[in-house]
Amino acid sequence: MGPNLRGIFGRRAATVQGFNYSNAMKRSKIIWNASEIDAFIANPRAKVPGNSMAYVGMKNEAQRAQVVSYLKSLK
Ligand code: HEM
Repeated sequence: MGPNLRGIFGRRAATVQGFNYSNAMKRSKIIWNASEIDAFIANPRAKVPGNSMAYVGMKNEAQRAQVVSYLKSLK
């Protein structure tokens, strides 16, 4: 459903070639790092209003930290 997240750290939002991003994500100009990813998955709609990711968010901070750590390990 979503773009491949391998190598997401340090990458600018909406730059996986060939993926059809929302205008909201394209305009966000986010450079993905730990705090940006954490804020996005805590509340995707609040962080990038109008984005097309069908996910309500992960409230548990420790779980988010594990997801962020896993994403960082994907080189
Ligand atoms: C904890 C789980 C998830 C994480 C960590 C996550 C993370 C992300 C990130 C970082 C982006 C931006 C990617 C980029 O800029 O290239 C993104 C976009 C997206 N994700 Fe997720 N995602 C999750 C769950 C989901 C789920 C469950 C779905 C769909 C069922 C989904 C669908 C999408 C879509 C469609 C986009 C593009 C959004 C847009 O263009 O507005 N994601 N996701």
